Amino acid sequence: MTGKIETVGIVGAGQMGSGIAHVSALAGYRVKLYDISPERIEAGIATISGNMARQVSSEKLEDKERQKALGRIAPANALEDLADCDLVIEAATEDETIKRKIFAQLCPILNPEALVATNTSSISITRLASQTDRAERFIGIHFMNPVPVMKLVELVRGIATEDLTFDTARAFVESLDKTITVAEDFPAFIVNRILLPMINEAIYTLYEGVGSVEAIDTAMKLGANHPMGPLQLADFIGLDTCLSIMQVLYEGLADSKYRPCPLLVKYVEAGWLGRKAGRGFYDYREDPPVPTR
Ligand SMILES: NC(=O)c1ccc[n+]([C@@H]2O[C@H](COP(=O)([O-])OP(=O)(O)OC[C@H]3O[C@@H](n4cnc5c(N)ncnc54)[C@H](O)[C@@H]3O)[C@@H](O)[C@H]2O)c1
Repeated sequence: MTGKIETVGIVGAGQMGSGIAHVSALAGYRVKLYDISPERIEAGIATISGNMARQVSSEKLEDKERQKALGRIAPANALEDLADCDLVIEAATEDETIKRKIFAQLCPILNPEALVATNTSSISITRLASQTDRAERFIGIHFMNPVPVMKLVELVRGIATEDLTFDTARAFVESLDKTITVAEDFPAFIVNRILLPMINEAIYTLYEGVGSVEAIDTAMKLGANHPMGPLQLADFIGLDTCLSIMQVLYEGLADSKYRPCPLLVKYVEAGWLGRKAGRGFYDYREDPPVPTR
């Protein structure tokens, strides 16, 4: 048995929130997209429209379907607009304080039966759930970036997540034509527990002068058959998100092997957050992007 999901609320209209809105609308759900910054909602909807147009040009989508899907996405000017959602997916900045504040404001607005999910890359689902009025109906639904392209979604139960919540979340994710992997609730789950230490090590390799940005990325692309280099991937994820995940691993597992590289800290402090900021390990204001080190 699974619960009925018709309307999906999304909190955070950045890279991930707009991607989740994209695939949910294409699968036939009504979507309400909220962000603390109204410009991000506008930019998110423009990104979705552009990405769907690309899917039409590459004949992966019919134009009629694109128009219908876009018509299912409504901007939400306030959290209150999410009151009638059956499922709300939080995809705001990877910062526990921000996420806790969102849940504290959001939960009293929602129907008591509504499910709440977080797209966090690393933060404890159990801890986030315990801050809400519905730990039984709270779950981690961890999409990968870019959402329309990546097949995998990690499902992560908190200690109190009910079977009905899990089964409903699973049915929802499967309806988006994604493949599920189930991860236990430990820092960074499966994908980022393995991926982020590799990226952090690549940044140490740069920091210690073992290789340049270009040398490191070329080495891993051609020497390990990775589709993109680890520094390019870090830029793609967002360096603020990478740093937050390393901090969660470092603090959550209390092991010095997860110590975030000081160079990663420096880039984040500079606001060089990667592709979304126009500059990270590469400068995206140039075409093709130029390494910054
Ligand atoms: N980038 C990735 O590769 C990736 C992959 C999987 C999961 N995630 C997770 O998804 C979440 C979002 O990441 P992203 O890459 O989309 O980041 P992003 O920086 O592109 O977007 C974050 C958005 O959250 C908004 N925001 C901040 N505070 C808010 C608040 N109080 N209320 C509403 N909106 C708020 C920001 O305005 C911004 O638009 C994070 O938890 C991240 O760990 C990221």
